[in-house]
Amino acid sequence: MDKFIIDGGRRLQGIVSAQSAKNSVLPLLAASVLTEKQVTIREVPAIADALCMVQILRELGARADFRGGDVVVDSADACSHEISSALTKELRSSVFMLGSLLTRFRRAVIAYPGGCDIGLRPIDLHLSALKRLGVKIEEREGFIFCKCDVLRGAEIALDFPSVGATENILLAAVKAEGRTVVQGAAKEPEIVDLMNFLNGMGAKVRGAGTDVIEIEGVKELRGVDYTPIKDRIEAGTYLMACAICGGEVEVRGVAPENIRMLLHKLRENGCKIHAKNDKIRIGSSGRLKCNRRVETMPFPGFPTDLQAQATALNSGGEGGAVIVENLFETRYKYVPELRRMGADIEVNGRTAFVRGVKRLHGAAVTAGDLRGGAALVLAALGAEGASEVFDLGHIDRGYADLQGKLTGLGAKIKRVRV
Ligand code: UD1
Repeated sequence: MDKFIIDGGRRLQGIVSAQSAKNSVLPLLAASVLTEKQVTIREVPAIADALCMVQILRELGARADFRGGDVVVDSADACSHEISSALTKELRSSVFMLGSLLTRFRRAVIAYPGGCDIGLRPIDLHLSALKRLGVKIEEREGFIFCKCDVLRGAEIALDFPSVGATENILLAAVKAEGRTVVQGAAKEPEIVDLMNFLNGMGAKVRGAGTDVIEIEGVKELRGVDYTPIKDRIEAGTYLMACAICGGEVEVRGVAPENIRMLLHKLRENGCKIHAKNDKIRIGSSGRLKCNRRVETMPFPGFPTDLQAQATALNSGGEGGAVIVENLFETRYKYVPELRRMGADIEVNGRTAFVRGVKRLHGAAVTAGDLRGGAALVLAALGAEGASEVFDLGHIDRGYADLQGKLTGLGAKIKRVRV
């Protein structure tokens, strides 16, 4: 597996464009089998998770091809409703396939999903919602067997605004008989994107982006040609890189309201932020004040997918920060690696206490998950001296050409085969 060699301490300068959002592209790919007509998803980034999802579609018998940067799916010949454990274990988002496959085939079998090792990540909310729509579910020997005679619209109340469960409900309800109402839905921008995509196919969904979503089942869905929203987490990662290194960077493609809480936190750090339309400019001296508190919350709160990067940022800040992770149980696995770089962090359950040190120093560290890996890269960019970051497979799951984009901003980062 590859590693990065990073020479820290360079200011960043320039313009970087965000890729399409990983967390939009994955459910949209899952949604592409809802119709037998051709679906085109534009500008799909070459990230491992998207490639894995494309592989899953092929396994079902669909044609799914990369053309330029777009993915074209033709699932007229799809005939399988089973996803092998090799692929579901790679990618937790394969759980969205439950909703899509049930709509298309009234049957779905998937192995218990995998993904980042950041907590228990149960799927009880997905399964109980599907049951409300009339699905019978059996779990045996690591597989989930789902079937139904018809899908029937229902009132579903989510105890927690799960992103994946909300998306799965949309996918299972678009062609269900009658009306489905989801109370307590997740409000993430990627849910709105999925609604727009589905409505482009002829679905009748409204309310995404609020906590009540209504889905009126339709008889048929047509093909669609769709460009997903850009990746607010990737964009946030580049803004934070600039905050840490100092310099001036413009990130393009993401609406500021989609990362408002991050922009607020970066201002607290002492950065200058100028946001207009889909351009966000940051100026940083590189000498940051710690945030007193960063607490992850469902949207529009501070995203859990930027928590690790925020810890890295605060590690080299002035003062101290309390980081609270409310979404996942074990999302601090990167902390021992940051400590190797001189960070002073204590973790107690869901809370990390960060005492800012003057400057982190370079070290050899290993990425253990996607965002934790990104946090190590950010820390290395700001550190004094050279670092090596191993196990880039995790980072490749969500960032297309991280090295190229950072190099374009003036960072010194090389990717080499180990
Ligand atoms: C999605 C994102 C992920 C992000 C997360 C939270 C995708 C592909 N991934 O993941 O990047 O970190 O939202 O913003 O979009 N939960 C249950 N039971 C369930 C479902 C979830 O208890 O049935 C819990 C989870 O264990 C977790 C919390 O709810 O503690 C949030 O999970 P959820 O919103 O479902 O996240 P994902 O959809 O997995």
